[in-house]
Amino acid sequence: LLVFSGQSNTRLASAICANLGIPLGRSETLKFSNDNLMVRYKESLREGDVFIVQSLSAPVSDSIMELLLMIDAAKSASAGRVTAVIPYYSYARSDKKDEARISIGGRLVADLIEAAGADRVLTMTLHSPQVHGFFKIPVDHLSAEVVIANHLITHVDGVEEGVVLAPDAGDIKRASALARRLNCNLAFIDKRRVSDTRVEARSLIGDVAGRKVFIVDDEISTAGSLVQAVNIAKESGAGEVYVATTHGVYVGPALERINSLDVVEVASCNTVDVSDEKRQECPKLSVLDVAPLFA
Ligand code: R5P
Repeated sequence: LLVFSGQSNTRLASAICANLGIPLGRSETLKFSNDNLMVRYKESLREGDVFIVQSLSAPVSDSIMELLLMIDAAKSASAGRVTAVIPYYSYARSDKKDEARISIGGRLVADLIEAAGADRVLTMTLHSPQVHGFFKIPVDHLSAEVVIANHLITHVDGVEEGVVLAPDAGDIKRASALARRLNCNLAFIDKRRVSDTRVEARSLIGDVAGRKVFIVDDEISTAGSLVQAVNIAKESGAGEVYVATTHGVYVGPALERINSLDVVEVASCNTVDVSDEKRQECPKLSVLDVAPLFA
């Protein structure tokens, strides 16, 4: 078994290898002056069971291209089987033609990964679980639910008295599974997306008054959805608010917004690398390790 890493999340790839008790495979990616990428493996892959770890995080297009090149180079180096390990599949947010004449990036990226030669995909918490079906090759779709649940159970007193709050209707199924695991109640928010960066929380369905609230979302990007969710929870009388997400993307105003929010913490899994600088800038961030699950 050989594990290699693209550049988007080498910390997670190293942690996966540490869990497996094997060294991270040696490879390098070069960027030429014309912006082209080139990948080189520095050890033999012949007949090997090769796993390439690459989150599709910023810079997203470079991350995708690097993954495609790594798959292609592994195939042409006679790897036996190539698994694309994609902890964060960002294009899962583009899963349908909900306006006229728009692209469906989730499907196109799946097609590219297959065309490059991947035999299998291992991923976590797709924004739209149906993106799984865009692949014709086998996909193992992991969930961070157990990691998030264990974190809350060990860090919060009286979890079962609290309420899991889904910040929009699309998250209800995942939130409900977590609420079952925590043995607590569920509430959700009627959220409308106005634009890429603006959302409106219309109403909160459920009872959060005087209770600890656990907001769970698949992804925090600009934290716009989170701000709305926290505000409406507090207006509805929520007590302490804890936030947990699988993918902490934290772009644009996200950290500034989180710093000014009345929440105890914002935990995210290490599917997307949260730099030490970001963690220093925003002490409310904490990182949950999903490397054992991937390993
Ligand atoms: C939306 O449907 C997702 O579940 C997340 O709530 C959303 O992607 C978060 O984006 P932002 O942090 O920019 O509001």
